[in-house]
Amino acid sequence: MENSNSTKEEQNFRVRKLELSDKSKGFIELLQQLTVFDSVSDKEFEDRFKEISMYGDDHLVCVIEDDFSGKIVATGSVFIEKKFIRNCGKVGHIEDVVVDGNVRGMQLGKKIVGFLADHARSMGCYKVILDCSVDNNVFYEKCGFKQKEIQMVKYFV
Ligand SMILES: CC(C)(COP(=O)(O)OP(=O)(O)OC[C@H]1O[C@@H](n2cnc3c(N)ncnc32)[C@H](O)[C@@H]1OP(=O)(O)O)[C@@H](O)C(=O)NCCC(=O)NCCS
Repeated sequence: MENSNSTKEEQNFRVRKLELSDKSKGFIELLQQLTVFDSVSDKEFEDRFKEISMYGDDHLVCVIEDDFSGKIVATGSVFIEKKFIRNCGKVGHIEDVVVDGNVRGMQLGKKIVGFLADHARSMGCYKVILDCSVDNNVFYEKCGFKQKEIQMVKYFV
């Protein structure tokens, strides 16, 4: 008999840390909804996963898995930068936030950003920052961010 508490609508999407096995659950395909890039081999994924893991809590990649499909449907990351200014303060940098196109508008993006911002705060950061497109301005405002200054970039490739 189907448990009435486990319908898709009532599903409790839990945020957790990225795991090595998430590559086979569509993690890379999800990131490809954010930007165009070539596929990543299992070896490349494992090497990068281990490299990131060595930073411990200073580099966190989080995901939300859809328990029904077993697919990763949302992700984001935060990197903790250690500075000399602000009494050797720390700043959190949020990157690569994306929610699967099929489940947007279900507050999952907000959940991911909230999780990453909470992590930065718990790590002692005095602020958490990110770059985004003008289109996503309102989304991040709803996540508690405000616009400040502008982004500059120089690409090497
Ligand atoms: C931007 C993105 C992460 C939002 O994820 P999401 O799960 O659909 O957003 P949520 O459901 O958590 O939205 C939270 C709130 O922001 C609003 N919102 C979300 N995207 C918005 C947008 N583009 N413009 C205006 N409001 C937006 C929602 O309506 C919601 O409002 P509410 O709390 O009043 O109901 C998702 O659309 C996405 O992955 N886009 C493509 C990749 C991308 O641009 N990533 C950001 C890189 S900086």
